[in-house]
Parts: sequence; structure tokens; C-alpha cells
Amino acid sequence: MSKYLITSALPYANGPIHFGHIAGAYLPADIFNRFLRQKGENVLYICGTDEHGVAITINAEKEGIPYKQYVDRYHNIIKEFFDKLNIRFDHFSRTTIPEHYALSQEFFLALHKKGLIKPAVEDQFYCSACNRFLADRYVSGACPKCGAPDVRGDECTKCGEWLDPSKIISPACKVCGRKPEIRRATQYFMDLKAFAPRLKEWLENKKDWKPNVKNKALSLIEEGLVERAITRDLAWGVPVPLEEAKGKVLYVWFDAPIGYVSSTMEWARLSGKPEAWKDWWFDKETKLIHFIGKDNIIFHTIIWPAMLMGQDKPYIIPDNVPGNEFYNLEGRQFSKSDGWYIDTADFFSKYGVDALRYAIASNGPETSDSQFAWEDFQARNNELADSLGNLVNRCFSFIRKNFDGKIPAASSELKPEDKALLDSFTPVFEEASKSYYSYRVRAALTQAMALAHAANKYVNDTAPWTLRKTDLARCGTVLNVASRAIINAAIILYPVIPDTALKILTKAGMNTDGKAPEFKPYTGDLNNKTLGTDDTLLFTKIPDDQIKLEIEKLKKTG
Ligand code: MF3
Ligand code: ZN
Repeated sequence: MSKYLITSALPYANGPIHFGHIAGAYLPADIFNRFLRQKGENVLYICGTDEHGVAITINAEKEGIPYKQYVDRYHNIIKEFFDKLNIRFDHFSRTTIPEHYALSQEFFLALHKKGLIKPAVEDQFYCSACNRFLADRYVSGACPKCGAPDVRGDECTKCGEWLDPSKIISPACKVCGRKPEIRRATQYFMDLKAFAPRLKEWLENKKDWKPNVKNKALSLIEEGLVERAITRDLAWGVPVPLEEAKGKVLYVWFDAPIGYVSSTMEWARLSGKPEAWKDWWFDKETKLIHFIGKDNIIFHTIIWPAMLMGQDKPYIIPDNVPGNEFYNLEGRQFSKSDGWYIDTADFFSKYGVDALRYAIASNGPETSDSQFAWEDFQARNNELADSLGNLVNRCFSFIRKNFDGKIPAASSELKPEDKALLDSFTPVFEEASKSYYSYRVRAALTQAMALAHAANKYVNDTAPWTLRKTDLARCGTVLNVASRAIINAAIILYPVIPDTALKILTKAGMNTDGKAPEFKPYTGDLNNKTLGTDDTLLFTKIPDDQIKLEIEKLKKTG
């Protein structure tokens, strides 16, 4: 048994999140977490909202409401959305809790004391009309690296580069639109170069990382790590814990990852064992796994590991950083402001959560960008209805009708086709297990669905509805074997479609207690087992005209 501390990138409490975020950092982590629990591993899954930074202060100011009120709203909206999607964290915190402030200051001071954080004077944009320094996104302009126009000050939305706001081309103040002037001001800089050799060695030893993540991190080191300001002049954030730095706060990207730890601390406190977070963060046996989107690679493979390495306490560093590519909507980035988005309340009033989880997971951006396309969603939903839903429905209805709702006993003499299906369970579990362990959910789904397809074919070929009249014992054997295949397919699919999997197991007469079923072929006795009473359909097919309407609706707003 191993110990896994799983995190998903902390979403900004700055608006609702969309399926693109879900596909990149949350669903893959939730699937991994659920799978590990099925395997009996020791797991803790932590997340929370990222509540600082200029993206947030600008929007709160636009609305004219206090920052705290603004992040409270989105913390709650985001939390509800995760609940709706069955993303099941052990704890979902926020970066505005007191332990987060204290811990972030501790992280800063440990590095400062060692001379790894130092003050320096830098050029900064200053808006004389607004009377303030323009931190990060208070300035916009063209990206100095790729040239994309109108990017935000600290990160280019096009090329993903982490920018120095003072290097932006044709800068403009985001508030008043005027051209800012340059003034010199003191900020604190973290010496990333000092960590380069250790980071490089650590990364080079990672054999099982996704190549895109590892290569990006190594090439950043190769290009040379430059000092970057980790403080800002802002009224919202974690105060820099130095007398001489009054009015300065930590840059949001410095404090945010510390949220992984402070959230674990809060989890420990709330569970009545305030020291329990150390069992995770200070134990060399813990595998720390950060699920992120590719735009967060530098922070999770360079800056955050360096911050951890520079502490006096025995923090672990990441074991793996499964970074995903982007997930778009019908060929373009999701964007609420451009009208290119899906109204999630409307979506869930029409379609099921598991159909969405399945559609995203089976087409996840694991190794290249992928997208939500309505026709693909329809195809995946209908695939679930046709293969899994239909299999469950026809077998269990048949048993209800003809065998008094009890799974008939299997004969002790099995035919080759029975054995072939039964013998396929173990290898399917082994293959799917390897896939889930290595973040290849698409492959795990292909393997699981192959089992569902094989079971469908088995039922078609053996035709129990004919056997009922000619050979009732043989008919019973077939239904018994098919029921076992259904149960096993449900167990393998549980990480991706947990509600449906548990429904299937309950339909099969098992008492799951809502808990994750063990990840191994089911060996329980099915002979004369009474099925559950729920005979509702698992999925309904989506007709073509409905999908046409959805596409028209999107094109109208976008
Ligand atoms: N809020 C950031 C984003 O959405 C991610 C923060 S991840 C953390 O891109 F590690 F910093 F917490
Ligand atoms: Zn201005």
C-alpha cells in the first residue's frame, strides 16, 4: 500500500469554472483518487479556491464590492459546481483562512533568512491618473514573447509565458486605459537560479512523468531561471512579513500553492487531529501528486518545488505533476465573456453528470488539446446508453420477468464462450489498473468498454430469450455469466461514472453503502441473488435535433 496526497490546481475565486478546467485538473484527479481508494491505497485529496491576485481585485473593484465579499461568492459557486460533478475532495479550503496567511509568511521568512529572497529595485508601470503602481493585470498590452495583443500583465493567455509586467509592449492601464509611466520601486525577488541544480537532478530522475511536463520544465531550466518578483504593491493578499515592506503583499503565485498545505492543515484541525497534516507533508513515503493544466507547469515544476526545497521543515516535493493540455469548446477556448460557453445549470437540467464525466474522460486532453463538441457528447452519451445501459437493462429486466428477480444459478459445466468471457475479467482489470495508475484514463475506458461490448456480444450470440423456451438451465447460466460481466464493468468504470456504477451494483442486488467497490474481479456468489428493485433506465439517448439546437444556441451567443 502507498500513501498519496493528491491536489488539483486551486481555481481562482474569480468566476464560475467551466468544463475546460474540469477536463484539465479536476476530473482526472477525482478519477485517480477514486481509483486509488478502490485499490485500498491511503489517499488524501485536497483543493480549495485561490483568492488573491489582481484578476480578482480588478473584478471586485468593477463591481464596487469588498474583495472578501467577491471571493466568498465565487468560493461558494465553485464548491457547489464540484459537488454537482461529484468531484469528491477530502477537503476544499480557501487561501484566505488564517492558517494560510501564517504559513505563507513562514514560507517567505524561511527563504528570506537564507538569502534566497532579496529586495531589489525594479522598473514598474505607474498610472499617474489612477495614482498607483500597476501590478500584473492592472496593465495590459502585447506579449513580449509571442506578440499576442491585449494579454494580461503577468501571464500570456496565448503562449502561456510567465511575464514580467514591466516588459509588456504598448502598455495601457486596465482601469483608465491611459499609457502608464515607468517608476522605480522596491520588490522582493526569489533566487530561483540557486535551485537550478537540485531541480534539474530531481526532474531528470523522473522516469514516469508525462514527457510534455518534464520537457517543458527542463527547458525552462535550460533557458536559465531569472529572478522574479514575488511581492506586489496591493491592498489584497498576504502581507509581506517584514517591517520595511509595509503595504506589500505576496504575489498570488507565491502564496497560492502554499494553499495545498494550509488546506491540509485546516482539514486536520477540522477532523480533530490538528497535527495530522504533518503525517502527509513531512512523510517521505507520501507521493505528492499535483493535477494541473499545462499553463501551470512552471509554477508546479520549478517555483513551488523550489519553495518547498528552501524550507527548514522536512517538506516532501512533488512525486508527479500530471499536467494536461487544453480542452476547448467546439474549436475555441471556453470564454463566458465572448459568449462561447455552456450554461451549466441548463446543461445539467437536460443531461446527466455521468454522461458528461464519461464524455470528458474518454476524450480528455491527456497528450494533446481536445475539446467538448456537442456531437461528440451525443455520441458518447448514446454509446453509454447503447452498450452499458442497454446491457444492464435487458439482462436485469429479463431476470425480473422470467426468474422472479433472482439471478439464476450457473451450471457447473460451462461452455467455451462462457469461459472466454469469464476469463477475460482478470486481464481487463490488470490492464485498466495499469492505465489508471499512469493517468491514462482514455485507455482505461477503452478497456472497460471493450468488456461491456464483449458482454453485449455474448448475450446476442447466446440469445437467452430463445434459450428460455428450449433450455432453461442454459438460459440461467448465460444470465449468470452476463450479470458477472455487468458487475465487473461497473467496478472498472466506477472512477469515471461513480453514480452509475453504484446504481448498477445496487441493481445487481449488492449493498454498496455508497462506497467505492474494490478494484478486482467480483468473486461473490451470484446464484439466486435477488436483484435490487430499481428498474429505471441508466441513460437516455439524445436525438439529433436536440444537438442541432444546442449548436445553434452556442453559435448565436458566441
Ligand atoms: N489559480 C491558478 C489558476 O487557476 C492555479 C493555482 S494552483 C496553485 O491558474 F498551486 F497555485 F494553487
Ligand atoms: Zn489608470
